[in-house]
Amino acid sequence: MMMAIPQPAFYIFKCQQSAPPGMPKPSCVSQNNPQSMELFAHLGQRLMQKGIIGTVAPIQTGCLNRCQQGPVMLVEPGHTMYVGLTKEKIDRIIEEHIIGGNIVQEYVIDEQMWGEPISPAQMTR
Ligand code: FES
Repeated sequence: MMMAIPQPAFYIFKCQQSAPPGMPKPSCVSQNNPQSMELFAHLGQRLMQKGIIGTVAPIQTGCLNRCQQGPVMLVEPGHTMYVGLTKEKIDRIIEEHIIGGNIVQEYVIDEQMWGEPISPAQMTR
């Protein structure tokens, strides 16, 4: 029997939305926060250094609709939304959550902003 190609253990969806300079609306990648422009590259480099880039897939995504809390990224599986990201926070999330298996609660979005999902089966017309 052939060995199957393994799925990633995690996908990390990093919001890479940027607003044009001078736009009042906040965005996850912004010239007002120079580090925000380096976070996706930092995430990829760290995963590479740890040797886990294949089993952890970093994905650049558009707006995840929590712009006020940016920079944000969503870890799947688990629907874990991390907010207010910095390089140091990303490092800790990789160590403790991705490798260690423990969600870094301090960096998770406030539960008032991240209620239980509504089942599509309940919403459908
Ligand atoms: S710009 Fe990142 S959540 Fe909207």
